[in-house]
Amino acid sequence: MNQAAENIYFNPWDPAFRANPYPHYRPLLAGPPRILDLFGPTAMVTRFADVTAVLRDHAHFSSVRPRDPSEPPNEGPFAGARTMLFSDPPMHTRLRRLVSRDFTPRRIREMEPRIREIAKHLIDAASRKGDFEVMSIANALPVMVIAEMLGVPPDHYEQFKHWSDTVVSGDNTLPGTPLPDEFHAATKALRDYFAEEIERRRKQPGTDLVSALVAAHDDAEAMTADELLAFVLLLLLAGNETTTNLIGNGMLALGRNPEQMDLLRQHPEMMPRAIEEILRYDGPVQSTIRFTTENVNLGGTELPANLGCFIIVAAANRDPAQFADPDRFDISREPRDHVALGEGIHFCIGAPLARMEGAIAIGAMLERFPRLRLKNPNAEVTYKGSYFLRGLNSLSMSID
Ligand code: HEM
Repeated sequence: MNQAAENIYFNPWDPAFRANPYPHYRPLLAGPPRILDLFGPTAMVTRFADVTAVLRDHAHFSSVRPRDPSEPPNEGPFAGARTMLFSDPPMHTRLRRLVSRDFTPRRIREMEPRIREIAKHLIDAASRKGDFEVMSIANALPVMVIAEMLGVPPDHYEQFKHWSDTVVSGDNTLPGTPLPDEFHAATKALRDYFAEEIERRRKQPGTDLVSALVAAHDDAEAMTADELLAFVLLLLLAGNETTTNLIGNGMLALGRNPEQMDLLRQHPEMMPRAIEEILRYDGPVQSTIRFTTENVNLGGTELPANLGCFIIVAAANRDPAQFADPDRFDISREPRDHVALGEGIHFCIGAPLARMEGAIAIGAMLERFPRLRLKNPNAEVTYKGSYFLRGLNSLSMSID
């Protein structure tokens, strides 16, 4: 593959690439999946049709990384325990079924008044300070909501946020380089904290999600203690940074397109569409990963067995074959399927919660600050360290 001839540049470890990966997706979208050398051959899957084909075909595209038996044990946050995100059927089916009973849209809807209350409280605190920092809401709301859902005291949320940020930033470690000490310390602290919480709930059950999951664990078809701990950590990691970045990336897109912000202000009923457009246009998850289980042809490219594949959902969401004028942010766009929340059996289990939190937070900010705007819509913004989870370090907006 001659990358230079095709004008392809793909380097998720380059901060300039991460600051704006979208132009780099264009040449990839213009042809069949390429195999690039990213510390080893890796398939780049970007076109909407290819991305959805992969996400619907877990038989050929596994979520489990093939491991060499001589490799040292997994040192990630889940310490070797399978989570639904990194498993295939039948294990995935079993894990997802066990938690689905307690992670229903109804249970999520019941949280709505409380989420509104938390958002209001956060905006009150932030607006007393003159300049309004969007990320102070975006960072705090999702972790407070999850902490509450898991039944842990809300005043521990800053500690959680710190641990979870440290674990997420481990993503930015170059392949083959050991993960930093802070990553291991944060992982251990999270595991120890929740191991204790689970034990406490086993003795003294409450009405929270952890107690419900502990009970599911004690049913005939049991979740093991390790799986339960891994799921709680997955919820914290998968549900936290992503939703933060939905709010942050969304406010940036609205700030850079003030006519769209005005439209949304005049038509608050357009909020559900606006949330889908934010997810499509600048989604919090850029890419997920799959591994081929055997030789397979994808969109005209032969992929060998055991090949790592970047399934770049954020590129698929800018595919001109699926979306007219894909680089335009337009909340009145005719809704079409996007893949920002995945597709197929791993479709985001937290989607109803993420959409609700995004709508509440963005709606509350627009309502509270009628003159909310970016001081300088062209000012550069900086992004956090992870390519896979795309989010801003800070976003200061003017309220008067
Ligand atoms: C806007 C915010 C969010 C985005 C963009 C997002 C995106 C995604 C995506 C793309 C996947 C599929 C990954 C794959 O197929 O490899 C996924 C799965 C998942 N998400 Fe989310 N997510 C968000 C919020 C949440 C929240 C709030 C929670 C939980 C509280 C959550 C929990 C999960 C879990 C547990 C999975 C694994 C599902 C499975 O493997 O069956 N996510 N998410």
